[in-house]
Amino acid sequence: MDYTVKTRVGTAKKITGEAIVYLVFQDNDEQPQLPALPQLPEKQLADFSAKQNEIQLFYQGEFACQKLLLIGCGKSSELEAGKLTELGGRVIEVARQFKLPELTVIFPLQLNFDREKLAEKFYSGLVLAGYKFIQYKNQSDDEENEQQLKLQHVTVLIEDARSEKTITRGGEKGITIAEAVKFSRDLGNTPANKMSPRELQQTALEMAEKEPKIKLKTIADEQLKKQGFNLIRAVGGGSSTPPRLLELTYTPENYARTVLLLGKGVTFDSGGISLKPSKKMDEMKFDMSGAGVVLAVIKGAADLNLPTRLIGLIPAVENMPDSSSIRPGDIVESYAGQTVEILNTDAEGRLILADTIAYACQKWGEQADCMIDYATLTGACLVALGHAAAGLMGSDDKLCEQLLRAGQQVNERLWRLPLWKDYRKKLDSKIADIKNIGGQAGTVVAGCFLKNFVDLDKIPRWAHIDIAGTAWGMEKLNYRPKEGATGFGVRLTLEFLSNQ
Ligand code: BES
Ligand code: ZN
Ligand code: MN
Repeated sequence: MDYTVKTRVGTAKKITGEAIVYLVFQDNDEQPQLPALPQLPEKQLADFSAKQNEIQLFYQGEFACQKLLLIGCGKSSELEAGKLTELGGRVIEVARQFKLPELTVIFPLQLNFDREKLAEKFYSGLVLAGYKFIQYKNQSDDEENEQQLKLQHVTVLIEDARSEKTITRGGEKGITIAEAVKFSRDLGNTPANKMSPRELQQTALEMAEKEPKIKLKTIADEQLKKQGFNLIRAVGGGSSTPPRLLELTYTPENYARTVLLLGKGVTFDSGGISLKPSKKMDEMKFDMSGAGVVLAVIKGAADLNLPTRLIGLIPAVENMPDSSSIRPGDIVESYAGQTVEILNTDAEGRLILADTIAYACQKWGEQADCMIDYATLTGACLVALGHAAAGLMGSDDKLCEQLLRAGQQVNERLWRLPLWKDYRKKLDSKIADIKNIGGQAGTVVAGCFLKNFVDLDKIPRWAHIDIAGTAWGMEKLNYRPKEGATGFGVRLTLEFLSNQ
């Protein structure tokens, strides 16, 4: 984003500037619910029905600003909470289309939503729509070079002074959340040569240095060995950048609850000795997206001052083939003490998470309200749900319901899958306690593998979110580009934490 987003109170009539933008909804008879507008050419107005995606531009002399843009938004009764961010994104999309350097958008006070929430979601969309990953492009695209045509300022106008405080508060929250999402998108988009386990640690360190409420502890090298994180060491063994376990804590002044967040941090997944085919292997730079969610949620929670203590645990490794890599058939003693027969070195995410889960239960189990892990865990999740939803599995119905609801509210959809014993059986090994692959239903089998390491006596509330289909490659929205990392999971989790 290189435009600013500001809020002011006033009447549209007196606003000077390039353009005034109205979001216009339809009533149940599909009639446009027009705001108080100047005299506009009737014929042109008659053509505007406020259908979704419809835009109408007017020039008039009654308002200080000549250009009025009406953006059709469809029936207001059909607008769900999850779509509010898209409204903000739509404003930016239209600004680009009309090459506006500046605009004032009227805050849609007429909508029947909690004002603060509405502002939060709307502003998030305004900011997120500006996301680009162009850090490594020396020459930006032509269009962007035309300086004057670039969007520079967005003003949100509140036409009712009584709502100023609420909207400003919600808006600031929304901007903070959007910044966290952008942070996680950047982490995901950064290629593996620039985002190895070392840089992932460095990123966490910078967060801790900037914010006194965040602390970082890193377990690496000898400590990893001494404490028995053998699965993490096994997966990271083939890389010249050694593995490490990052432990971040965000401690607010007063807190009633502690939530554990675990994120798969495979900075590149070549598959190891069970090497992946070369097609689309570049996408495996995104295999640390779970870690990206955890880092961004901790940053967001700290910026929002959320009253929940967070423990973020990230096993950061690179999965590479080498003479020091694990081989198919190897047996490794996990942190939990159970032995694992590794039949496919490409099923590595569950291995590093198994050690992390066992450690989390042991160290934090007594204090934790719940534990949620995020992982680009299985290609099978993409087969099952495509890019439309992430797979949700868990031990506790109430926790799963809370997550499903949070997902609905921010349009980050989850779909729950079962963890029946039938699937766990597929992981029985003849020569070790468990094996790391198990045939069909790959997503739930992987979920069962993780569950095997959760000490449910210590943490009865555990959920696993497979973001293999949603961390990148989702459908384009106005606030989310088609290309690259989505930051999926960040808004969902911040919503979940705020709901508590
Ligand atoms: N990181 C991959 C999962 C993945 C693949 C995510 C494609 C997104 C797109 C994971 O480590 C993996 O390789 N899983 C294997 C497991 C299999 C060997 C049981 C897979 O899904 O093929
Ligand atoms: Zn992987
Ligand atoms: Mn893999």
